[in-house]
Amino acid sequence: MIDIHNHIIFGLDDGARSQNETKAMLKAAKQASIKVLVGTPHVRKEPLDPTLVMPRYEKTAEMAASLGIRFLMGAEVFHAVAMSMDKETLLRHCIQGTNTLLLEFSYDTLPANYEKLIIHLQRQGVNIIVAHPERYEVMQRNIEIPKRLVALGCELQVDAESLNGGFLSKAKKCAKQLIKQKLVHNISSDAHEKADYAVYAKIMKKYGDKLRHSYFLEDLK
Ligand SMILES: [Fe+2]
Repeated sequence: MIDIHNHIIFGLDDGARSQNETKAMLKAAKQASIKVLVGTPHVRKEPLDPTLVMPRYEKTAEMAASLGIRFLMGAEVFHAVAMSMDKETLLRHCIQGTNTLLLEFSYDTLPANYEKLIIHLQRQGVNIIVAHPERYEVMQRNIEIPKRLVALGCELQVDAESLNGGFLSKAKKCAKQLIKQKLVHNISSDAHEKADYAVYAKIMKKYGDKLRHSYFLEDLK
């Protein structure tokens, strides 16, 4: 299994706070049968600073390798920041070894020009995976929007935690609907702590065979 969305690299965002927490999360990921992990720290204001990221990435990759997990660098990039990046910076934030970017939108509104934004990024040579569409209010209200994203050539990534929610959860309802309509290419943990991997394992057992083929991730498996 491949987890392309998590906050497992220590000291960069609201995920793991220390090397020990990263290690505990990696062990939990192994128990959840994850073979490939892409670390995706939040990029909400400005691009990642390589001097800050690289030592933490290398340490995390080393700990992952000792557990038999392949660890790749990535980022969860907020749309406004992605729009401000030049081509080189965009590609630097893609999943390591690919030109695929994990893109995040606001939870409450979608930019009016979201289609232009997607096309602009694609013209820079970037494939887009939209992070947790089921958590965005506009997409919960209107499934035509995630459908449109897929029609534009995006792939969709749903959070395991969304599918674990109670029956009143709007995110769960939306995620189930997206899966039913075969619009979801990947389920990831979006893990911020080790307990999130037990949820991930449970959800993958239930929904792992109901996903659409991911062309952007097939080389990573
Ligand atoms: Fe995230």
